[in-house]
Amino acid sequence: MLEPGCGSGRYLEALARRGLDVVGIDSSPVMVELARKRLAKSSLPGEAVLDDMTDFDLGRSFDGAVCAIATIQHLTREELGRHLSCMARHLAEDSRYMVQLALYDPSGRQRLPSSSWEESRGELSLRIDWTTAEVDLAAGRALQRSRIEILTGPRKGEVVVEDHAMTAWTPETWGAAIATSSFVIERVFDGAEEPPVPVEEHATGGLIWHELRREARAIER
Ligand SMILES: C[S@@+](CC[C@H](N)C(=O)[O-])C[C@H]1O[C@@H](n2cnc3c(N)ncnc32)[C@H](O)[C@@H]1O
Repeated sequence: MLEPGCGSGRYLEALARRGLDVVGIDSSPVMVELARKRLAKSSLPGEAVLDDMTDFDLGRSFDGAVCAIATIQHLTREELGRHLSCMARHLAEDSRYMVQLALYDPSGRQRLPSSSWEESRGELSLRIDWTTAEVDLAAGRALQRSRIEILTGPRKGEVVVEDHAMTAWTPETWGAAIATSSFVIERVFDGAEEPPVPVEEHATGGLIWHELRREARAIER
């Protein structure tokens, strides 16, 4: 299994624990180091590679891939095209690429995705608020904001706010982008439900999973 944008490797670990041969790529050296440490700590096989998911060549092919929690929205439309070309070159015919992303209702009527949670480790505890600050569907851009408040530990009281410029997709714009790639949308699930439930192809929501199938024909860009 290949995971582009693997971050600190929590999916890599979960998949490796199920006996899968896993490789993650991430463009952040800090994240790659964390993912490597996580796999090593659990004595699990697998690899985290420092690379750009829009331009990589690992010299091997995979039976499946996963890209979770809207990581794909870090890519512009043009970057998505290059990413899908790279993925097609790395995936076996008919294999699946599971992609999770927010899909916006073109009418603009839905509530903007947001979530809040707390985490703690040792003496450190954090409150995290992730909000969608603005969405411009005509421009295909969404501004997401993370606010991390340090609740306990040596840095108690500090607040870190970061803005993330993301691509905003509707089922139509996403479907059109996939149609120009070597993938077809096989099935769609709503990941807001546990377990995720199958939904129709044009479903909208904050945590939609698209099961993409690698077609036999490969479109070279
Ligand atoms: C939302 S995090 C997801 C991390 C991980 N998949 C998880 O669920 O914990 C997105 C990750 O994508 C990485 N990323 C963003 N743009 C990238 C790119 N062009 N190539 C590779 N990684 C990228 C970031 O460094 C970050 O670690």
